[in-house]
Amino acid sequence: MAQTPVKVTVTGAAGQIGYALLFRIASGQLLGADVPVKLSLLEIPQAVKAAEGTAMELDDCAFPLLSGIEVTDDANKAFDGASVALLVGARPRTAGMERGDLLQANGGIFGPQGKAINDNAADDIRVLVVGNPANTNSLIAQQHAPDVPAERFTAMTRLDHNRALSQLAAKLQVPVTEIKKMTIWGNHSATQYPDLFHAEVGGKVAAEQVDEVWLRDTFIPTVAKRGAAIIEARGASSAASAANAAIDHVFDWVNGTEWTSAAIPSDGSYGVPEGLISSFPVASRDGKWEIIQGLEIDAFSRERIDASVRELEEERAAVRELGLI
Ligand code: NAD
Ligand code: LMR
Repeated sequence: MAQTPVKVTVTGAAGQIGYALLFRIASGQLLGADVPVKLSLLEIPQAVKAAEGTAMELDDCAFPLLSGIEVTDDANKAFDGASVALLVGARPRTAGMERGDLLQANGGIFGPQGKAINDNAADDIRVLVVGNPANTNSLIAQQHAPDVPAERFTAMTRLDHNRALSQLAAKLQVPVTEIKKMTIWGNHSATQYPDLFHAEVGGKVAAEQVDEVWLRDTFIPTVAKRGAAIIEARGASSAASAANAAIDHVFDWVNGTEWTSAAIPSDGSYGVPEGLISSFPVASRDGKWEIIQGLEIDAFSRERIDASVRELEEERAAVRELGLI
């Protein structure tokens, strides 16, 4: 194995997404089939033993690309030398918890983890936040990492993107590979806007191939509320599909893509206030996300993008108010 292993840190490693994610990273699906990896599993002290159990199973797979595993509850150690950080562990909303409580609890996780990334990670660190509320958790981590380029902090809307592909493919009875230029705008929440006015199927605009009522009253809410529907059906939030989307996000970030969706810091494009970590249509070139420019946004899309961005602004104002950023 000639290449130096790339250190990948996964937080919440003993959780259900962690369990679906780690084996795929170790098998080479995150970075490429020729890239050796070193895994670091960060957990809270009570879950370290469970994470050690997962590490034993990873050992038992004898993955050729896996050069080492560490399990720790020390964020400084976990992020030391890391080139990829998948921030999955978060404080879930529980009964009776107000939004402020949720943001406060997550601020207590993502602030210190951002600082630990700032102080310890490798210069090429890339961060994907999966733990909800993902966009704002990513913003909190970023604001505690002033020495890391701001654009290295992202949040996951790739699961929403993949859900949108699947719903549209089923409606039009086409393979998902026929669909190009799908876009999720805004927040990873029920306000997100899955956009069919720029998506294409067989080279033609997707919105023109479905009826308006289906687009507005079925497609958009089905994609936006799919997370809740999975929780209702499974009794637990999506795990394998979330892990799959995290793999897709990082693979494309590192290896390049012409068009996907990712929540990245806004540069003011499309009227999204600068600094908000909002989902856009993006390409990845030379290892960097770029917002795809020049799309015409009609009134229908504008209204929906604005509503989701407004929610992100409110979350940013709330975490500022709480002194978390
Ligand atoms: P889970 O409860 O099974 O696992 C979470 C793990 O995180 C637990 O093992 C817990 O001990 C750990 N953890 C908590 N605080 C931590 C900390 N400070 N440091 C390290 N680890 C910590 O949850 P899950 O199903 O794996 O989901 C994880 C998160 O991902 C949730 O917030 C969920 O809402 C979110 N999620 C996001 C998307 C998305 O598309 N962005 C999709 C699905 C789930
Ligand atoms: C999802 O989209 O599946 C999750 O973000 C849902 C959740 O609340 O964990």
